[in-house]
Amino acid sequence: MRPLLEVENLSVAFDTDEGTVGAVDAIDLDVRRGEILGLVGESGSGKSVTALAVFRLIRPPGRIAGGSIRFDGRDLLALPEEEMRRIRGAQIAMVFQSPRTALNPVLPVGRQIARLYRLHQGCSAAEARRRTLEMLGLVGIPEPERRARDYAHQLSGGMCQRVMIAMALATSPRLLLADEPTTGLDVSIAAQILDLLRDLGRRTGASIVLITHDLGVVAGLCDRVAVMHAGQLVECADVRSLFREPAHPYTRALVRSIPRVDREVTMEPVPGVVPSLLDAPPGCRYADRCPDVLDVCRTVKPARSARARDHEVACYATEAARVAAPRG
Ligand SMILES: Nc1ncnc2c1ncn2[C@@H]1O[C@H](COP(=O)(O)OP(=O)(O)OP(=O)(O)O)[C@@H](O)[C@H]1O
Ligand code: SF4
Ligand SMILES: [Mg+2]
Repeated sequence: MRPLLEVENLSVAFDTDEGTVGAVDAIDLDVRRGEILGLVGESGSGKSVTALAVFRLIRPPGRIAGGSIRFDGRDLLALPEEEMRRIRGAQIAMVFQSPRTALNPVLPVGRQIARLYRLHQGCSAAEARRRTLEMLGLVGIPEPERRARDYAHQLSGGMCQRVMIAMALATSPRLLLADEPTTGLDVSIAAQILDLLRDLGRRTGASIVLITHDLGVVAGLCDRVAVMHAGQLVECADVRSLFREPAHPYTRALVRSIPRVDREVTMEPVPGVVPSLLDAPPGCRYADRCPDVLDVCRTVKPARSARARDHEVACYATEAARVAAPRG
């Protein structure tokens, strides 16, 4: 079956006084129906910008510099804004990394959620209110009745985050883009929220893109994982393969950086620094950090190739290793 979301060759650039920042560099990414896809990578790798592009919220000085985004076969980049607004919220929902700015400042948060139940689920006013309070409780907000009357500025960052998640869940979206939904939250609340996400997928068949720094969360929740480095998508695999046989040198370094309680090994941070994306040179952006770098890496960007079923990687070294490996 056709994936719910098909991102092809997507590039996003920011035109700044210093030059062009190539935040996302020609990435391909599919999100299948009903799956939870983890999107990982260090800070600045382009995870949020990718999600914002899908939600069509890249604002100047940012621009979509190329590629296409199809949602259920429809070309999102070609839709009039009014049509896109209908899709946002009703079919695609997003939990923003900075939730306070995404909430309406002049409407109590309970009213914002209730409105979604009325609009998207066809609930009566009383039913919408009941479900709002229930949802606020589910996302771990104490005293929902009282909190529902608060405005965004009266809530802490963590509370805003939970309200944003409640709003995203209230629309029963077909695709949820969740950008660091549990970062900064207390461990037990975070676990409760991840359970809600899993439950949304199981109950409604929704697809979820989970952006996170926490590879432990990815291992526990996701079906597949896409790894970004400096705006490039370097590896995409089912979660088991990615942790057992990471192929790209960057993914291997990331996996090695996970603290393991069952091992006596100290975790190693990924060596080197994320390169500047300002007028970035062609080729693989991991070249300056890569122990396996070849001459070609600095001039021509490696294409993605299939390593195994459900496992693709963009790297000359792993491609060469695969081709040179004995058959059988
Ligand atoms: N308004 C902007 N102007 C210039 N550059 C921008 C702008 N917004 C984002 N960028 C650049 O785009 C790149 C990707 O940013 P993005 O926010 O997507 O990273 P991220 O992977 O979500 O990081 P984090 O894990 O810290 O949230 C960064 O290098 C950032 O500097
Ligand atoms: S071997 Fe080349 S293509 Fe592969 S990660 Fe290293 S620099 Fe990039
Ligand atoms: Mg981000």
